[in-house]
Amino acid sequence: MNSKRLRIFQTTVLDWYMVNKREFLWRKETPEPFITLVSEVMLQQTQTSRVEEKLPEFLMQFTTITALANASNAEIIRAWKGMGYNNRALRLRDAARRICELHSGTIPQTLDDLLALPGIGRYTATAIMAFSYGCDVAAVDVNIRRVYSRLFFKMETTSSVASESEINKLSERIFPKGHASDWHQAIMDIGSRFCTAKRPDCSNCPLISDCLSAGLMIEYTPTKRAEPSYKKIPRRIWRGKIVDLLRHTHSMSFETMIDSLFGVEANDDDRKWLLEIISILEKDSMIVQDGNTLRLKDN
Ligand code: ADE
Repeated sequence: MNSKRLRIFQTTVLDWYMVNKREFLWRKETPEPFITLVSEVMLQQTQTSRVEEKLPEFLMQFTTITALANASNAEIIRAWKGMGYNNRALRLRDAARRICELHSGTIPQTLDDLLALPGIGRYTATAIMAFSYGCDVAAVDVNIRRVYSRLFFKMETTSSVASESEINKLSERIFPKGHASDWHQAIMDIGSRFCTAKRPDCSNCPLISDCLSAGLMIEYTPTKRAEPSYKKIPRRIWRGKIVDLLRHTHSMSFETMIDSLFGVEANDDDRKWLLEIISILEKDSMIVQDGNTLRLKDN
């Protein structure tokens, strides 16, 4: 795309966004970096609708980075209810602790300092820089990568994406300097509304005339590698069930947990499975076992 065409394309994207943007709490005019940090960590693996619902409660409970840093494992896991992947919550709290220790409670502005924080990858770091600090940086998450791949490379199937190095190179050139925040959120909105992973709606997409893949992709969803599971329920779900049981109580005996999960007819395989997951959750610092009693970790 030559530079004149690129400017027209950038205007199309930004104009579309001005009229159609999704209003979210984390999209207020230059959100505080704390809001971007928390919301982007939440959005790493959780749907926007769920994050919309949970974010206000979370920010009421943890109003500052210091409050978040002071949260115990049990407090943060309880506050993370309904979000899934509880490890993320612990890492977010650890990031807050590091920010208090190393940066006097101010969320850093440089890529290197942000990347050094637990649970903060390149996308989240660049999102904080672009959305809250107004930096001219390219941000690429899975959704942006999918949209860029289809727009600027000819993708054969809906699951194909261009290589990371091609996308990184392109992402630097393509965003309009001075508009990194709106631009990247606009691309995410186009990705969620039209350029969806499984069934893109090319005919209504505002970028159809610039897209190399529009209407040409074969719909294809690769089969996922099976997760370890027990009784046809993935381990991740079992982990969630155990943490959920402990969220609502100070502590629980192993036997009560067995009964709650498997009923009174629980057998040796059920016990073995539960023991295995408990030991993983202990290693992840989510829970502690005191003799025969289980509880969320306090600190
Ligand atoms: N997914 C990840 N970050 C997002 C954002 N800022 N807006 C919408 N969806 C997102």
